[in-house]
Amino acid sequence: MVSKWWNEAVIYQIYPRSFQDSNGDGEGDLKGIISRLSYLRDLGVDAIWLSPFYRSPNKDGGYDVANPRDVDPRFGNLEDAKELFKRAHEFGLRVVVDIVPNHFSSEHKWFKEALNDVPGSAARQRFHFYDGKDSNTPPNNWISLFGGPAWTQVADGQWYLHLFDSSQPDLNWENPDVKADFEETLRFWLDLGADGFRIDVAHGLAKDDIHIDHHDPQGLSDALRLDVLMEPERRNDYLANIPFFDRDGVHEIYRDWRKIFDSYGERDVMAVAEIWVHPPQRATRYVRSDELHQFFNFDVMNAPFDSEYLYQSISEMLKLVKVENAWPTWCLSNHDCERVASRIGADAARAMALFVLGLPGSTYIYNGQELGLPNGEMDDSDRQDPIYFRTQGRQKGRDGARVPLPWSGNEVPFGFTSGKPWLPIKQQWQEFTVEHEDKDPDSSLNLYRRALQLRKQYLIGSGDLTWISTSGVLSYKRGPITVIVNISDQPYSIAELGGQVILASHQISDSLPPKAGLWLLS
Ligand code: BGC
Repeated sequence: MVSKWWNEAVIYQIYPRSFQDSNGDGEGDLKGIISRLSYLRDLGVDAIWLSPFYRSPNKDGGYDVANPRDVDPRFGNLEDAKELFKRAHEFGLRVVVDIVPNHFSSEHKWFKEALNDVPGSAARQRFHFYDGKDSNTPPNNWISLFGGPAWTQVADGQWYLHLFDSSQPDLNWENPDVKADFEETLRFWLDLGADGFRIDVAHGLAKDDIHIDHHDPQGLSDALRLDVLMEPERRNDYLANIPFFDRDGVHEIYRDWRKIFDSYGERDVMAVAEIWVHPPQRATRYVRSDELHQFFNFDVMNAPFDSEYLYQSISEMLKLVKVENAWPTWCLSNHDCERVASRIGADAARAMALFVLGLPGSTYIYNGQELGLPNGEMDDSDRQDPIYFRTQGRQKGRDGARVPLPWSGNEVPFGFTSGKPWLPIKQQWQEFTVEHEDKDPDSSLNLYRRALQLRKQYLIGSGDLTWISTSGVLSYKRGPITVIVNISDQPYSIAELGGQVILASHQISDSLPPKAGLWLLS
């Protein structure tokens, strides 16, 4: 089988608002990204994935799209997007863009039309508008993933569904206008130069009968929330029973999309699904040969730093994707969760980076992860995430993972902007700037650079892994490389192992300290 570019690609996620500002308004933009493409090339990634930069009132970090075929002025314009695709390609980088098919922004023209039209009208049928059970009770008891009810009432008494913020009305995928509009959007970005898509909430587009109440299986009455999705013990029972996740109807949509992707032939367009499903076998349905190419495997991203857990999770995923002839993906951080250096600690994060970068499959790196950035701290008054507001502050939300990147200099805002950054950057990030880490041979940045270079040299195309140790110390062999990470609390002697240490997350001698990892070349 011919190997496709995405099978073993390293894909770097850019959160455009936080990456690099070029015009001093305190928010990152497309020109800023263009100015940093050489940094990404030198880091050694194969592709970038851009979180949304489309027209949006930005109530949910741009995942509330008001016009999916235009660039929001805060990020630039369509010419900038075109230029970004072109320049990225000149550097050998592919560009994956986000597509957000579960919902539009309430500022989208369709939703405005729907509000101005009558119950039952064609304009309302593009969304999920229903009468309530009575004048004050929504059609069912579904809860928004951001907290609070999933229904909002409009002036004439009807209710519309929003699985996320009330400014993100869910689209009705049984309506042909919706299907046609997204197909147009896919072609629009491909024609402009994009190489693929990350599909937001890809498991959510089809819904069960809205008229049935569903009580959540764990009795967490108001807790169908992102934090539940991060907790393995609660998440799984939950996911298997949600009436608006992973319904069979979603697959028809992706079969149609696949035909569009394939019509671009040698461009080798790829699509990766953001899915939260259970049991894991359900995930592989999204990568059947006539559907999508990858799905995000979030289990490792949320996993404890625990050898048994990691071994089980990784080995199961490797087996599962094989059934569909697909390749796995790995990630340690993204814009929706606590940064890995904060979640499992800076040392363990370095060790885990070496561990996942050795695995077969594709790896996603979230911007700033290569610097070892922890979550940003801020006062509650600085927070912007709708999760914070919809839960009345019970959950702090995701802003900590979205603090702008520190590039250079010794003073805040470290070269990110000449203005005031949209979220505060703390002075302690001085030691995390690209400039600072560039000069330090032991920095996280240089560890990632070396790992990506050695991965290309020794691991790409080297096939399956063989597990060597699956408890306490996790280790596997792939091609000429043995990857070891010490998850136990004791030093692990490597004196007898033979081979040459070509990469280590920490200073090592004859033993590998706890929370450290290495690559041995045999
Ligand atoms: C995105 C989030 C977003 C949500 C609603 C998620 O999966 O990654 O950032 O808030 O979808 O679009």
